[in-house]
Amino acid sequence: MTSPNPPPDRPARRAPQGLAGGLTDYGDREFALYLRRSFARSMGYTGDALERPIVGICTSESGFNNCHRHFPELIEAVKRGVHAAGALPVVFPVISLGELFLSPTSMVYRNLMAMAVEEMIRAQPMDAVVVLGGCDKTVPAMLMGAISAGKPAAMVVAGPMMTGRHRGERLGACTDCRRFWGSFRAGSIDSDEIAQIEGRLAVTAGTCAVMGTASTMALLAETLGMILPGSAAIPAVHADRLRNAEETGTLVARMAREGGPLPAEIVTPAAIRNAMRVLLAVSGSTNAVIHLAAIAGRIGMTLDLDAFNRMSDETPVLVDLKPVGQGYMEDFHHAGGLGGVLREIAPLLETGTSAVSGETLAERLARPLADPVDHAVIRRAADPVAREGGLIALSGTLAPGGAILKRAAATPALLEHEGRAVVFTSLEDLAARIDAPDLDVTAADVLVLQNAGPKSPSGMPEAGYLPIPRKLAQAGVKDMVRISDARMSGTASGTIVLHVTPEASIGGPLSLVRDGDRIRLSARKKRIDLLVAPEVLAARAAEPRPVQPVAERGYARLYNERVLPASAGCDFDFLQAGEQAS
Ligand code: FES
Repeated sequence: MTSPNPPPDRPARRAPQGLAGGLTDYGDREFALYLRRSFARSMGYTGDALERPIVGICTSESGFNNCHRHFPELIEAVKRGVHAAGALPVVFPVISLGELFLSPTSMVYRNLMAMAVEEMIRAQPMDAVVVLGGCDKTVPAMLMGAISAGKPAAMVVAGPMMTGRHRGERLGACTDCRRFWGSFRAGSIDSDEIAQIEGRLAVTAGTCAVMGTASTMALLAETLGMILPGSAAIPAVHADRLRNAEETGTLVARMAREGGPLPAEIVTPAAIRNAMRVLLAVSGSTNAVIHLAAIAGRIGMTLDLDAFNRMSDETPVLVDLKPVGQGYMEDFHHAGGLGGVLREIAPLLETGTSAVSGETLAERLARPLADPVDHAVIRRAADPVAREGGLIALSGTLAPGGAILKRAAATPALLEHEGRAVVFTSLEDLAARIDAPDLDVTAADVLVLQNAGPKSPSGMPEAGYLPIPRKLAQAGVKDMVRISDARMSGTASGTIVLHVTPEASIGGPLSLVRDGDRIRLSARKKRIDLLVAPEVLAARAAEPRPVQPVAERGYARLYNERVLPASAGCDFDFLQAGEQAS
């Protein structure tokens, strides 16, 4: 349903142009259209089909992306919906980002994908677009690109995987991947069993089965209004996932005719603030803070980390899912999904926001749910998993520009902790020394990884989940305070401070930490401090720093030169709102 009273400041709607949209420039418009139509007809279209509004279907399937392997079937369902609504569906690819198949890390390529999405939507003749993504970075890339492209758009997400089984236990990628690998490192399971588990962790199409980055971003996409209400958590292999795709196709065909709404009318500052609330209530991935900051940047908004902390202190964690709790995404869907969460935190939400469906959040919340919420999985606000939000931002002398801690996934006793730094200067140094029998380390120490931020050669990998040194793991140590300018998988847990800004490779205070320095973490005060005298730090800062290798060509060079810090979402400076093409 469309909004009966569109706001007076709504941009003028554009009539569908179909194949005549954005013609190639030969200096003769009629000839350009004639030529385009004749080449389109070579694909077997009738003249009637070519007169219709065009709905682009932007897909990111790839042989290197296991999470998207059901996209051919989803695309057929979207096309069915578009056809039924009288428009012409045209499928086109963009690059795909399969989380486990990219080096140095998928994060580096999120902006490349966002650029491809934006440019291909803008450059090709479509009146509206359905974007399909799911695996971690693909959802923010699709949203960022669609917002900046400025054509009517809606999203279909992949949906989560189903769980597997091992010796009577449920398994789901990828919290259980880390748990079993930790057991293998500690010697409590052998190589035969770890090989058996390898084939049981990811057993269907779809995204990781826990509240990792992909699941978090799907929930945020629904909160922002860019996917149909109730669809974020439908399992990838469920028939409802296909029905959702068909309904989205029908909806976007209508959006093509009506010329809107545009993504920037859906993804408003209020919608971003609601997404921050949901991120906290589901104790979502730390990566989502970066992606949300980047999405906010595309509408000219800066994510306010002080406001984020205020929200965190008043937003309870409601969802009992791994990595923080027990369940999996299929449980969350059957328990009531995002709709169940939104109803519990309704007093904290700004309900004037709208979804692509035209429904406002207030209207959605007033609509009864089809089934009762299972409060074993989605807890009541009065009986939460935790009284405070899952994530907090830290600042202090070690991170003047901010850092992130997933306090819901931390060891409570370590949330107020002072310890001696054990420093690794790079990922290579970490790999070379973390398991050395003579490493001078105790469980009370603080592990510090330097030079793994956005501008480092490693491109901010998910290396913030530093392994517990083998000799401590074998002695039963499960968690330590770990600090870096890297990211962490949304499926990981521990007392882990991430995204330290400014990063070490550009000379941030993190680069000045030395073995034996004292570091203090206080989640209560939301601080992370390096307890070293300023004059000592000034002397260290004056020492020559090791020269970081810099990419000399291609995308790696563009990335290195133009990427913004984690606090600004690691977007490129020239892609934020204000710099985008009109
Ligand atoms: Fe694709 Fe986890 S690997 S979502």
